[in-house]
Amino acid sequence: MTISIPRGTKDILPGEVEKWQLIEKKARELCERYQYQEIRTPVFEQTDLFARSVGDTTDIVQKEMYTFTDRGGRSLTLRPEGTAAVVRSYVEQKMYGFPNQPVKLYYMGPRFRYERPQAGRYRQFVQFGVEALGSADPAIDAEVIALAMNLYWELGLRKLKLVINSLGDTESRNAHREALINHFRPRIGEFCSDCQTRLEKNPMRILDCKKDREHELMKTAPSILDYLNEDSRKYFEKVQQYLKDLDIPFEVDSNLVRGLDYYNHTAFEIMSDAEGFGAITTLCGGGRYNGLVEELGGPETPGIGFALSFERFIAALEAENISLNVKQEIDCYIVAVGEKARDYSVKLLHKLRMAGFSAERDYLNRKIKGQFKAADRCHAKYAAILGDNELEANKINLKKMDTGEQEEISLDEFIDYFKSIME
Ligand code: HAM
Repeated sequence: MTISIPRGTKDILPGEVEKWQLIEKKARELCERYQYQEIRTPVFEQTDLFARSVGDTTDIVQKEMYTFTDRGGRSLTLRPEGTAAVVRSYVEQKMYGFPNQPVKLYYMGPRFRYERPQAGRYRQFVQFGVEALGSADPAIDAEVIALAMNLYWELGLRKLKLVINSLGDTESRNAHREALINHFRPRIGEFCSDCQTRLEKNPMRILDCKKDREHELMKTAPSILDYLNEDSRKYFEKVQQYLKDLDIPFEVDSNLVRGLDYYNHTAFEIMSDAEGFGAITTLCGGGRYNGLVEELGGPETPGIGFALSFERFIAALEAENISLNVKQEIDCYIVAVGEKARDYSVKLLHKLRMAGFSAERDYLNRKIKGQFKAADRCHAKYAAILGDNELEANKINLKKMDTGEQEEISLDEFIDYFKSIME
């Protein structure tokens, strides 16, 4: 019996993986431009970290975590997201004392959520994200959003919709919380059992419920924007002003609450507007989390960031019919015929590679025609053709594959010659 891949995961094969590499490369390049530095944290963390940061009334913590007990009896969880671990590390490594402030970090790697698999929703998916810690300047909110938009734009996406909201500061959120409780309490019996527990613990989560989405009370629920105090309103206005200054189009949606508990002030999502993208349109989500560092034992420190998944990024590219320009060619393919020539080609191939070229030879004992076909399949720029007779005469033929031009070169000088024409 064959063993199949776990549900909700996928293999990324050559041909497809180059797209991932290209997005990775572009993301790193942008982070360099925006001055974010890479951080790598473990794939698993203590379970409490996520309960305390993502929030124990969220779907992620309640239903979706891959949690296990290790042989030492510790409860560990495969990371469902990246922010909690970055903040854990920020506190543990005392990054608030680093000379360069704010601390601007980025990360890439797999996340794990036990979700119902469907198009765009996996149980293992790869996120790229950034976190800026230590600044409460609304200009950083705009910078973080600009970085995400720029990554999509530079890889060709056009059909994007940026949606922003403000969840306000603690005072505003408390006022909104009261209003939500008053709104839902009289008819809470009509809601799912999760929402019933959310009512007192975290009523905002009700707005994020997948089951009760269509309930009429959802549509008339009090909007957070009506409960923002002066400071929160001013902050939100400033973020909007900066986005306008940067020519980044956006919509304000007071229903945007995000699925994680640590947010306050700015929250945002970037969606794909492309036809045929499918039901799940959110490509990227993020926001401000000013209380999280303190919650995890550090000093009072503001923070903001976002994360996006490669899986949905690639799906959005496909929905917009954008094929990434992935280079798949090699410099030289050695076509060797005859036993001595084949033996010699092992050495020649090594020399080419040592000189910095991408090179390949036949390993299947193909006839000359088959070797040329293989050279074509590799998109070789040149074929170096060697037979036993040429070897004896210290010669090799070099064929330029696109024009068919061929020339004979002294074998001893081959590498130097090849270097000179490839310069
Ligand atoms: P999130 O909204 O849970 O936020 O996830 C961010 C992005 O990850 C989503 O917009 C989506 O593109 C992708 N994503 C989430 N779940 C899946 C899945 N099952 N399959 C494929 N892609 C998925 C966070 O994770 C926050 N940590 C973002 C953040 C960083 N906020 C501040 N800093």
